[in-house]
Amino acid sequence: MKAVLASHNKKKMAEMRAILSELGVELLSQADVGVDIEPEETGTTFEENARIKAEAIMQATGLPAIADDSGLVVDALNGEPGVYSARYGGEGLDDTGRWQLLLKNMKGTENRACRFVSVICCAFPDGSQLMTRGECHGVVAEGPRGEGGFGYDPVFWLPEKGKSMAELSPEEKNSISHRGNALRVFKEELEKKLNGTDQ
Ligand code: IMP
Repeated sequence: MKAVLASHNKKKMAEMRAILSELGVELLSQADVGVDIEPEETGTTFEENARIKAEAIMQATGLPAIADDSGLVVDALNGEPGVYSARYGGEGLDDTGRWQLLLKNMKGTENRACRFVSVICCAFPDGSQLMTRGECHGVVAEGPRGEGGFGYDPVFWLPEKGKSMAELSPEEKNSISHRGNALRVFKEELEKKLNGTDQ
C-alpha cells in the first residue's frame, strides 16, 4: 500500500518509515506527491489535529494519508505545552529555544513528571479512518543532554535508562517512544484492515 505522510518533518518521516516498511507500506512524503499544503492545526486535542492533517492530505492526494500529532505534556504546567508543543513560546523560537523556555518555566519545580504523546491517524479515500495513541513517560531534566532525536528530546529524561531521549540510538528511541508505541498498535490495526479481518 502507498500512503502519504502528512508532515514536513524529515525526522518524523524517518522514524515512521522504519516501522511501517515492515508492513510493506511505502510511505511517501508530501514533496514526493507534490502537495505543499500545511493544514492549520485548529484542534484542541492530539486526536482532532491528527484527523485534520490526515483528512486534508488524503483529500488533496486521493491517497491514504497518515498524520502524527504529538507533543510533550508536563503535569506541573497543567499539561502544557501539549498540542501547542511545536509553537511553544511563539513563532520566533526554534527547538532549542522551546526547550530552553520549558526549563525556565520549570525552574524550582519539584514535580517534573511529563510524557510524550503521539496520535496517529490514517484517513482512507473511502472515508474510513484508523486512529491510535501512544505515550512515553519521563521527567523534565534539569539541563540538556545528547545530540540525537529532535524537539524536546535533550530535556526528556528517562530515569530507568539513566539517559535523555536525545542520548538514545534511533532504534532504541523507536522501541520505547510515544510514536513507536502508537505506530506498533497502528501497524497491528492496519494489518487487520488490509487483511479484511477488522470486523
Ligand atoms: P506536530 O508536528 O504538530 O505533531 O508537533 C509536534 C511537536 O512536539 C514537535 O515540534 C516537537 O516539539 C514535539 N515532539 C513531538 N514528538 C517529539 C519527539 O519524539 N521528541 C521531541 N519532541 C517531540
